[in-house]
Amino acid sequence: MKNIVLVGFMGTGKTMVGKLLATQLKRQRLCLDDMIEWKVGKPIAKIFQEDGEKFFREIESEIVKAASHDKNVVIDAGGGVVIDMNNIKRLKERGIVICLIARPEVIYERTKGSIHRPLLNTPDPVSNIRELLSKREEYYRCADYTVDTSDISPEEIVSKILNIMDIEK
Ligand code: S3P
Repeated sequence: MKNIVLVGFMGTGKTMVGKLLATQLKRQRLCLDDMIEWKVGKPIAKIFQEDGEKFFREIESEIVKAASHDKNVVIDAGGGVVIDMNNIKRLKERGIVICLIARPEVIYERTKGSIHRPLLNTPDPVSNIRELLSKREEYYRCADYTVDTSDISPEEIVSKILNIMDIEK
């Protein structure tokens, strides 16, 4: 079976859904953000702060390259992975790319307590979310499928994704 690759903005549910999917399907889960932190040896917020976003994106692309060779895994990627089209191309080689989306207010509610998302750590996070979302809209459209997670539970999201994977068999 192809890899299941979850992309989408911060707070759309990739991590939670990735864990549920991996458990249900008895597959290995690769969290690209965790892999970046292991490789660099520090948390993402610190990477942004000390090394800058450009460095983070370089490491992210290296991790995508490595993870794309795996088979039969669930991959959850960071929200900005789509900005580099080569990342998406690689992730599609062995995987179905599913973009999780949500309304900006929902994203804000889900992310407001988070300290590990440097891009939302600003005085006006809702405006920032809207601005980043509109900048990234075209990139998120490159996914094979889109699932709106605003008003449904993680279990319902999983069931939608399993239906998609059934179609793709
Ligand atoms: C980012 C999203 C984060 C993390 C980093 C950058 C982004 O991952 O990769 O802070 O550019 O949208 P999550 O989407 O898992 O929060």
